[in-house]
Amino acid sequence: MLSPSSSEPILELKGLCKAFGQLRAVDDVDFTVARGSLTGLIGPNGAGKTTTFDLIAGAQRRDSGRILFQGQAIDTLTPHAIFRRGLARTFQVPRPFANMTVLENVLLAPSGQLGERFDANWWAIGRVRAQERELQERARSVLDWCALSDKAALLAGQLSGGQQKLLELARVLMIDPAMILLDEPAAGVNPSLLETLMERVQMLHQRGITFLLIEHNMDLVMRVCERVLVMAQGRVLAQGSPREIQDNPLVLDAYLGPST
Ligand SMILES: Nc1ncnc2c1ncn2[C@@H]1O[C@H](COP(=O)(O)OP(=O)(O)OP(=O)(O)O)[C@@H](O)[C@H]1O
Ligand SMILES: [Mg+2]
Repeated sequence: MLSPSSSEPILELKGLCKAFGQLRAVDDVDFTVARGSLTGLIGPNGAGKTTTFDLIAGAQRRDSGRILFQGQAIDTLTPHAIFRRGLARTFQVPRPFANMTVLENVLLAPSGQLGERFDANWWAIGRVRAQERELQERARSVLDWCALSDKAALLAGQLSGGQQKLLELARVLMIDPAMILLDEPAAGVNPSLLETLMERVQMLHQRGITFLLIEHNMDLVMRVCERVLVMAQGRVLAQGSPREIQDNPLVLDAYLGPST
């Protein structure tokens, strides 16, 4: 495993653009994320943060620019293919299958299961069953790790907002992601669940997983992030250490409007 301080980029955005009609939601964005880092992505509402995640994760197509993950272009791949390469994302508003159980939601995450393939014929049944057992075990241990094991049989729609955020994390842990994009993990989460969630994030970070974290909770960003990127009106306005960002007048202006 590479050291967390490694500066080799795991993710590179080059001249990335995405417009919705006249609105330049992402406007010539360049940045890199170092492998093993926990980087914050902040900025006022409508800055283009979630759209940037959508472009990285393949949920939206860029108009122009490039996105490299582990040195390879991913900007023409499907969300599924990007996920399988080890780049996972969670949603600003969790999107569980509300009428399925928590366990079933987690089991849906992995791809390429033998049991789903048409070519899995009778001789493969033993292997399919073994694989299903393995997946079940993994799902249960992931739920346990995310402090959700006692919720496994509940419908996902019955979970609180905070528990749904933990479920989102559990789902992405069914693959071994190299990088996780977290979109506002703290929003609407009660303090004790938030503590659990961030503890898990930091543990995963210590294991070498790279995080890019969109968050409006500045205390949280300043506490956990090593580096912070600031977006405003589709552009990268500033980047640096949390302290540098805190002291940057441009950043304050972006949030509060210019003081003059
Ligand atoms: N699918 C879409 N169609 C049209 N406009 C969109 C679409 N998605 C986002 N936008 C617009 O693009 C701009 C950037 O939105 P985005 O959701 O990326 O902002 P954000 O930085 O994530 O904001 P927030 O902090 O409020 O979540 C906004 O003006 C938004 O209204
Ligand atoms: Mg957003």
